[in-house]
Amino acid sequence: MPISMIVFSSRQYDRDVFTEANATFGYTLQFQESQLDAQTAVLAHGCNVVCPFVNDVVDEAVLGTLRDGGTQLVALRSAGFNHVDLDAAKRFGIGVVRVPAYSPYAVAEHAAGLILTLNRKLHRAYARTRDGDFSLNGLLGFDLHGKTLGIIGTGVIGRVFGKIMAGFGMTLLAHDPGPPASDLIEAGARYLPLEALLAQSDIVSLHCPLLPSTYHLIDAAALAQMKRGVMLINTGRGGLIDSSALVDALKSGQLGHLGLDVYEEEGGLFFEDHSNHLLQDDVLARLLSFPNVIVTSHQAFFTREALSEIANTTLGNVKAWFDGSPRNQTHF
Ligand code: NAI
Repeated sequence: MPISMIVFSSRQYDRDVFTEANATFGYTLQFQESQLDAQTAVLAHGCNVVCPFVNDVVDEAVLGTLRDGGTQLVALRSAGFNHVDLDAAKRFGIGVVRVPAYSPYAVAEHAAGLILTLNRKLHRAYARTRDGDFSLNGLLGFDLHGKTLGIIGTGVIGRVFGKIMAGFGMTLLAHDPGPPASDLIEAGARYLPLEALLAQSDIVSLHCPLLPSTYHLIDAAALAQMKRGVMLINTGRGGLIDSSALVDALKSGQLGHLGLDVYEEEGGLFFEDHSNHLLQDDVLARLLSFPNVIVTSHQAFFTREALSEIANTTLGNVKAWFDGSPRNQTHF
């Protein structure tokens, strides 16, 4: 069967890597800059495969329109699938596949980058020296060596991240309802209940998926359980943190540093240039006003290696599905 795939929310870099990877598959690819949602779903008419990105809307209504247009497979080019109504997809007979792992190094290294930048205030130093200000006031950091790092979620990314940070001489604490990761234990990690991890960590980093059970895992109560002046890093999903609780925690000094690569309300904002518009999200605007907060726009995955792996795995998933030997399915 000829395969025709529409790639929503695509940018030039998606076009480049997918076109290159498609040389071995030969599918008909259509690139669409718009986000997939109730209005744009009709654009997929006639395409048997739809390829959404992380902030695309893949709810029941959208899936209904896709089914009516002949879509048989949703091939996510992401690991996370919290934005897909899997029950509806199942009812409509639409398969859903994803890219469970592409480059855990990309995300883990970005989390490490946020920690180093926040701690040593490299973002402020960069602006300062460009402006001829060579003073050090306000740039005081701390040694990572000997400090305690709490990793919440020790799957593929959390484990790589833990091993990187062990290289700095940090003490590793971990929390995960699943089986402990032997390589992390070898790197010295101790598994603890969430409350104990929060109470003992100098830095807390989130690497678990967004599920009903992890929604607002970090809220005002969890922030209050942490050490005063703690650093919090989130490269998981925005909904893991109750963002409205962050502003108070930062103002009081309970939260000393915050690094976010994901944000609860990032849909419609991240991946776009809004520099000519007024930011309407008051919580995000307030967060961006703190010097000890860094927000990156869901870029942790964004390395050459990861993009290429994503494109190859996505197209491979499509082939496997149409060959009748599905892989990387999210259900059935
Ligand atoms: P994974 O599935 O290998 O690991 C997730 C781990 O979280 C599992 O070990 C699971 O048992 C654990 N977990 C589940 N519930 C938990 C809870 N309540 N508390 C603690 N741990 C819990 O996933 P992977 O590949 O390591 O990715 C983790 C997350 O990172 C993804 O779900 C995705 O949301 C996010 N991500 C973000 C990217 C970015 O660009 N910022 C890129 C790729 C992934």
